Amino acid sequence: MTLSRLAEHVEVVEVGPRDGLQNESAPVPAAVKIELVDRLGAAGLRAIEAAAFVSPRWVPQMADGAEVLAAIRRLPGVVYSALVPNQRGMEAALAAGVQEVVVFSAASESFAQRNINCSIAESIQRFEPVARMARDAGVRLRGSISCALGCPYEGAVAPSAVADVVRRMAGLGCDSVDIADTIGVGTPGAVQQAFEAAARELPMQRLAGHFHDTYGQALANVLAALQLGVRSFHASVAGLGGCPYARGATGNLATEDLVYMLHGMGIATGVDLQALVDCGDFISRAVGRRNSSRAARALLAARGAEPARASH
Ligand code: HMG
Ligand code: MG
Repeated sequence: MTLSRLAEHVEVVEVGPRDGLQNESAPVPAAVKIELVDRLGAAGLRAIEAAAFVSPRWVPQMADGAEVLAAIRRLPGVVYSALVPNQRGMEAALAAGVQEVVVFSAASESFAQRNINCSIAESIQRFEPVARMARDAGVRLRGSISCALGCPYEGAVAPSAVADVVRRMAGLGCDSVDIADTIGVGTPGAVQQAFEAAARELPMQRLAGHFHDTYGQALANVLAALQLGVRSFHASVAGLGGCPYARGATGNLATEDLVYMLHGMGIATGVDLQALVDCGDFISRAVGRRNSSRAARALLAARGAEPARASH
């Protein structure tokens, strides 16, 4: 099967300011988060996950979400989103003026317990008032399903378990649902099985791929999902991140690597790759990390620039 002209356009959802930074152990100043979000918008990203209104006892790094959302320069056409685990988070997200909220559960019971301290069924119940509030406020509702391709506590996860949570999230009224490989163990065949099962509950155009790159499979997994008709992918600039409740999990697929591949295939994203590389360089230096994007490191080297090095 030829891979040229697989799609005209793909949506890139930038999750670095949330999924990327949530895992940093040293506090990242709000001013750095604000500058990162602003630079990402200026680089052409049209969907930016900017904050999480979760318990600061669970994820202290995200405690300043209101401050970040109050200070960013909002660009027309950009959807700024935030994670909400419950009604309290939803109230804070609405007060902060987000255009999309993300409710999150898992395809594995053990991960749901570790991440949100309740069962999958309880999480869906908890999201019912959140979904009503989103509808009333005219805010988009997105669902995210962790451990859709494997769980650090339970191992393999069946596609039917993913489909089951997609059905419940569709029942809540989610506009779209993310199939998330939290620990990056998925390979292309398994990705296609998970998406095929999910698409029996919600059309492929309403599903998104959220792949962490722990085992180096993320770009191959994007390609596998693209072939099925998935047109929305999450990525994190400079490959920032990990998950506080999944030991050893590395960051998301780097946005620079995703955009480089898509543009190389003739697929438009609206993102200016060179400006994106500058964003990745900025945040890598600000948090003292080596830039994890292979494409960014190569593009910086081609400019004759020294890449950021880890300072801790
Ligand atoms: P809990 O301890 O069961 O609930 O947490 P609680 O109601 O007893 O609350 C505990 C404390 O948090 C209380 O404070 C609450 O007031 C407060 P205390 O009285 O002890 O001082 N609290 C809140 N504070 C601010 N905002 C709120 C809020 N809710 C309660 N919204 C809860 C249950 C769900 C709240 C907790 O487990 C939690 O916040 N979990 C979030 C974990 C998280 O953010 N994980 C990372 C994001 S998910 C992810 O990265 C995966 C994803 O990328 C996809 C993938 O890759 O898999 C999306
Ligand atoms: Mg994630």
